[in-house]
Amino acid sequence: MNLLWTSEALVEAMEGRPIGSLPQRITGISIDSRSLEPGNAFFAIKGEVMDGHDFATAAVKAGAAVLVVAEGKLPSLGRLTAPMIVVQDVLAALEKLGVAARARSKAKVIAVTGSAGKTTTKEALLHVLSAVGKVHASAQSFNNHWGVPLTLARMPQDCDYAVFEIGMNHPGEIRPLVKMVRPHVAIVTMIAAAHLGFFKNLDEIAMAKAEIFEGIEPGGAALLNRDDPRWKLLGKMAKDAGVEHVFGFGENVRSAFRLVGCELHADHSDIAVKVGKRDLTARVGAPGRHIVQNVLAVLGAAQLVGADLDRVAAALADLSAERGRGRRHVLHHPNGPITLIDESYNANPASMAAAMALLNATPVSGEGRRIAVLGDMLELGSHSAKLHAALAELIVGTGTRNVFLGGPEMQALAKVLPPEVQTEYRAGADELKPIVISALRPGDVVMVKSSKGIGFSKLVEALLGKFPAEATNIKPA
Ligand SMILES: Nc1ncnc2c1ncn2[C@@H]1O[C@H](COP(=O)(O)OP(=O)(O)O)[C@@H](O)[C@H]1O
Ligand SMILES: [Mg+2]
Repeated sequence: MNLLWTSEALVEAMEGRPIGSLPQRITGISIDSRSLEPGNAFFAIKGEVMDGHDFATAAVKAGAAVLVVAEGKLPSLGRLTAPMIVVQDVLAALEKLGVAARARSKAKVIAVTGSAGKTTTKEALLHVLSAVGKVHASAQSFNNHWGVPLTLARMPQDCDYAVFEIGMNHPGEIRPLVKMVRPHVAIVTMIAAAHLGFFKNLDEIAMAKAEIFEGIEPGGAALLNRDDPRWKLLGKMAKDAGVEHVFGFGENVRSAFRLVGCELHADHSDIAVKVGKRDLTARVGAPGRHIVQNVLAVLGAAQLVGADLDRVAAALADLSAERGRGRRHVLHHPNGPITLIDESYNANPASMAAAMALLNATPVSGEGRRIAVLGDMLELGSHSAKLHAALAELIVGTGTRNVFLGGPEMQALAKVLPPEVQTEYRAGADELKPIVISALRPGDVVMVKSSKGIGFSKLVEALLGKFPAEATNIKPA
């Protein structure tokens, strides 16, 4: 089994107090007893709802090699005889281990933040850099105060590249995280209304994202969306933070990584990109203009960390859309196929626009229609009603004439959609399920999109359960 850490290194990095006889080899780091693999160290992190110490026994049963626990919790662990490392604060210990992992690593490190597209960009980097070296990357969207140190602590000593997603809901969240990550390249995918509840306006969001510049390594680079209205503001903040190199990606003629040709197809895109004096063409295996924008950042970052661009560009062909982020399924209706686009993982005004464009670009067959099933965009605070109502223009503009809406915030949109858009509003996913299922006809393209908390993934599951289906844009590993 792979060696990630020795117990001595763990104890030293965390300044912990060992109890019992610690095993030599630690194969991984876990904070969840359900996914823990034998040989992992289990960190008993205290979250908002759960306390990992309550799962110490389960972790031992699952094969934990060692438990990392808080001094103050020791009495409550009773007669647990497993080997332990006792620390003052378990999250702080995980952070220290993360810092030690970064210190011992020779990897080129890339950090990704932005209002949308972080995970997509991170996954694409993981995919393409795997063609040229050993890559470590955040699992899922592990991008917060525990996700980032956990990803660092899991970083193998010998990886060539590491990619970190860094997210935020509040000002001040990114700063301490990026200082642990110390990226050579930091990407800001785009700035849009997401988590606006905690911010006055988009400039404030940009300023919070700009904290990522404060952790860039000397000689490192900021890679910014040149087509984003806040490009200038971000560029200035990067310079103010002392970042030596600031590059843009996008369609703008001044972009260092510039899109000069783009053909969008229903299941892929063909692009031409100028990188300095060099011309590159590539097929991108996942559809959507927004994916193309993320891919420009991917090519830029790959170039900046010294990866072979030809191999990286070739690897883009096997990108696939992630579950809940544009993955397509063909549903077998008795009288013909229906295309389902699953966008149920996330929604904010920017990603709604991207997803509606994707729906619009997807061909229907025969008498088929384009159908949007939309749920609430969460965390938009006092701007929520206005931003939901504003989707009307987008829907009318893209020519979608069949709309199903669910969730309390979507009432604002239901009220303002013009009569030519056939609209059904229901309280939520459960109520929408039967009417969406009975509305579908062969040849239709249906897109389901909402914030994760609204639970529209259940609707997707229901459609997949109702009609035999196959995913169309997942390439073999
Ligand atoms: N560059 C982009 N611009 C606008 N929307 C995007 C972009 N990239 C992805 N999206 C949209 O945002 C959704 C969430 O993407 P994801 O990569 O999970 O973002 P994040 O990790 O930042 O939350 C996707 O389903 C897609 O619709
Ligand atoms: Mg994410």
